[in-house]
Amino acid sequence: MASGKQAAGERYLVTGGAGFIGSSFVRALRRRHPRASVTVLDKLTYAGNPANLSEFEGTPGYAFVRGDICDAAVVERLFAGGFDWVLNFAAETHVDRSIGDPGQFVMTDMYGVYTLLEAARRHPVRRFVQISTDEVYGEVLGDPAGEEAPLLPRNPYAASKAGGDRLAYSYFATYGLPVVITRCCNNYGPYQYPEKLIPLFATNAIAGERLPVYGSGRNRRDWIHVDDHCSALLALLEAPGVEGQVFNVGADNEKDVLEIAALVLGALEKPATLVAHVVDRPGHDRRYAVDWGRLREATGWRPAVPFEEGIRATVRWYQEHEDWWRPLKSGEFLEFYKRNYKFLDARPEPGEGPAT
Ligand code: NAD
Ligand code: TYD
Repeated sequence: MASGKQAAGERYLVTGGAGFIGSSFVRALRRRHPRASVTVLDKLTYAGNPANLSEFEGTPGYAFVRGDICDAAVVERLFAGGFDWVLNFAAETHVDRSIGDPGQFVMTDMYGVYTLLEAARRHPVRRFVQISTDEVYGEVLGDPAGEEAPLLPRNPYAASKAGGDRLAYSYFATYGLPVVITRCCNNYGPYQYPEKLIPLFATNAIAGERLPVYGSGRNRRDWIHVDDHCSALLALLEAPGVEGQVFNVGADNEKDVLEIAALVLGALEKPATLVAHVVDRPGHDRRYAVDWGRLREATGWRPAVPFEEGIRATVRWYQEHEDWWRPLKSGEFLEFYKRNYKFLDARPEPGEGPAT
């Protein structure tokens, strides 16, 4: 049975480390294993932001490499140097963008996983963690999905992630690669790119802009604080004998979009009139829900951040870090925003011109 025990000086590869969860994970890892060496490989797409990792620049044992996980030469060169632990966070992650333009999702979320797995086959690692998602189950209308539930992804993001998830498993079953797969629910917290629900609502509300709610606003997600997701991953790295297994990560904290809007507006003391319904997302999954008992049994892990506290602290973080998000809500983001949302009333935003 392989042990997950870690010692000082071990080498971690964190792909996608300049994104939301990857950068939170690097922070958690450095706290837990200060003497470990950490290499971040990140393409710095629109969602990757070096500012998320600026505190580590020039610190001992930390290296940042700008590169694409689909680029076999870059990946081979890095793996040839040797890694003990690999965590693949790198992905295209926004469902709405996957609906408009699925190609890059298929590349990064499937082919990119293949490139990493091939390198890990040539240069053995102690564990390869593929960060998958609960969206691979598709919408869950009954009991929360266990790890053996069928994978029925319904949008190109979820389908590409399901491909990467199963490819990673196939390298365990076929080549004995020590793969572990995690399927976490929706994350929220600091440093999340403001196209996703909670940072979009928080930053729009701070700016006095409308909160675009798809369809009825009754679509439900299980929300977890990113620090809890990262502590689950650290716990799994340390768990012995889990190779080849899938672990759901959840928080038993289901909320619908209108409830989230109310919490965000409440935290900012902004009026409910900012809620604005928009034409629904095509194929919008009504609900995601996972049973994460397997993780609890294997590690004893439990989420620690109470949701209402987590939301208030997160909203406060966006209030206090306008310098982080304001530059992101410009240029290409505004074009995407205009293209993506069709407001159902004609009320124009202050300074926004007529709504389309
Ligand atoms: P994110 O979009 O904030 O960050 C993704 C990072 O990957 C960015 O830094 C980006 O530059 C990098 N990247 C993209 N394509 C790349 C490529 N080809 N090569 C190298 N780097 C590349 O995403 P996130 O929310 O931090 O999600 C991280 C992972 O967690 C993803 O795999 C996602 O599917 C998974 N996940 C996310 C959630 C969530 O709620 N955010 C939930 C479950 C699982
Ligand atoms: P999102 O953050 O895009 O995550 P995912 O779709 O991957 O779960 O969306 C979370 C929920 O919020 C989902 O039901 C879609 C809804 N939503 C809105 O209603 N308006 C928005 O502007 C966004 C981004 C999401």
